[in-house]
Parts: sequence; structure tokens; C-alpha cells
Amino acid sequence: MENATVVVSGTKIAEEISSSRSEVWRLIQQLRGTGVDVAGHPATGYQLRSVPDLLLPEILRPLARGTIFESGLHHFYKVGSTNTLAMTAAADGAPEGSVFLAEEQTAGRGRGANSWQSPRSTGSYCSVILRPPLPPSDVLVLSLAAGLAVQSAIQQVDSRVQIDLKWPNDVLVNGRKVCGILTEMNAEATRVRYIVVGIGINVNQASFPKELGATSLRLATGSEWSRVELVGALLKSLDREYRQLAGDRDAKEVILRRFAENSSWAFGKRVRIEENESAFEGTTEGLDARGFLQVRTPYGVQTVLSGTVRER
Ligand code: BTN
Repeated sequence: MENATVVVSGTKIAEEISSSRSEVWRLIQQLRGTGVDVAGHPATGYQLRSVPDLLLPEILRPLARGTIFESGLHHFYKVGSTNTLAMTAAADGAPEGSVFLAEEQTAGRGRGANSWQSPRSTGSYCSVILRPPLPPSDVLVLSLAAGLAVQSAIQQVDSRVQIDLKWPNDVLVNGRKVCGILTEMNAEATRVRYIVVGIGINVNQASFPKELGATSLRLATGSEWSRVELVGALLKSLDREYRQLAGDRDAKEVILRRFAENSSWAFGKRVRIEENESAFEGTTEGLDARGFLQVRTPYGVQTVLSGTVRER
């Protein structure tokens, strides 16, 4: 990457990594397999045609400078689920600020029993470990704050993108889902041990099955996005939201207010709520002090604790 436009001989690369030309050839083939665009062969030398948009720690670290994530970046080409990886690492004592990034997930998990489509290098799949000094009842607010962080990261890269937040954790563009957030935790009754916030963003996908109701940033804007730039912005905005929540007395109310201001779903939306085996309908009436969605029904105001919110 330091010589992206020039042809570098296999011998020179072999010398630099103290290896053989045949090993260089094997590694180049491996890179090509992951989507890196390398021209050439052992006889002519190699040329990186373009700097790959891979979520590598050495590329992201400068963008995450000064955040709690700076020194905890872990990158994988292919994993089952970055959330599963992060939950296991957290249980084994991984520190706050550890980040697990993957180019591809083979068993990406969504909320409830849903899966998360995670094709190679088109989306961004990122899970972070947090160890907040908060009671479990505040974790929903943290999860809502993660949605605000995604919104701010997307708009930092392209301020023209209009984002809508759907309670609790969907990030929508043009009414279609562009990002999902899966927040998981391990807690005692009054104290969180650790939280994993898993964020999946549809970045450069060219199409989706219609029934998914999804879109990508590329589909929404008509141009390719740099995942590196986006994830760098995301780590910064997540850090900002998290510090505020953990350190500022009024932060909870501020986050709930900001979420409602940025969500067309918070007030006056006719919705159908599907929770466990049951469903009900009504009109949204904002969030309560803990961050749960309030819905007015013919039988009074109901609090949505989990479940799926759909427009009626
Ligand atoms: C949702 O259902 O909307 C939540 C989707 C969360 C997907 C992300 S991708 C990174 C992390 N790893 C997972 O397996 N899931 C989350």
C-alpha cells in the first residue's frame, strides 16, 4: 500500500518480508481471493491497482486516534459473527474498547431470531465491547445512542443523506433499512459486566431481495462509499456518545430527546407492534424515561419492551 501505483518485484517483496518468491505468490493469490486488486505475476512483479477498502487496524487506527477504540482493533476476513466473537472475548476478560471487525460474516446475527446478511467487503460488520458503570436498565439508552452515532457517522461522510431512526435500533434511508444494531449484555441485577454493541451497515451492496426492505448507502446515493472512512467516523461518534452517557448526568434525557427528534417513528406514527406471539396496533407517543416506545391504543398507552415495530 505504500507503493500503490508502482510495480514491485516479487524478489523485493520476498526480501522485505524475509520470505521466498513462491511464498509471495501464494500470499498474493490469497489477497486476490479476499478481493484485493493486484495486477501482475512472479515474472513481471506486482502492482496494487487501487488501495483496498479493507477495515485493517493499521488503516483505521489513525482515524480512531484519541478514542477508547484506538488500541483495541481486531480484524478478520471471515467469521461467523463479530458479536459472538466479542461476547466470547469479553467473557474471557477483553478490555473495554475492543473492536471486532470482519470483511464477511457467515452467521451474522440480527435482533430476535433474525440473521444478518453479511456479504464480503460490501457491508461493514463491527462489534465493540463496553464495560459501562451503568445499571442494566440504562443499556437501552446506550443502544439508542449507538443509532445516533451511526447517523452522525453517515452524515459526516455525506451530509446530504437523510437518516430516519426507527425504535429501537434501525437506521433507515428512504424508508429502507441501511443499518441494524444488536446490543447484547452480561449483567448482574444492578450492574452491567459487559455490553457488546454490534453494528451492521449496508454500505456498497448493489441490490437486495425486495422482501428485505433494505438498501445500501451506495444504492441511496448512487456512488461507492469508503468503508474505512465510514467506520473511522463511526468509532469516533460512538466514542463521543459513550463518553457523554457514562460521564454526563443529563446525558440520558439528552439522548432520548435527540433520538425522538431524529425519528419520524417516535410521535404520531400509526404502527403495528409484534411482540412474542401477540400483536397490537396504535399510534406512537414518544419514549418513556427509560427509552421504551409508548403507543396509544384503544385500551390506553402501552409500553413496547421489545418486538418489531411496523408501519400500518
Ligand atoms: C438487526 O436485526 O437489525 C441487528 C443486526 C445487527 C448486525 C450486526 S453485523 C455486526 C454484528 N455481528 C452480528 O452477528 N450482528 C451484528
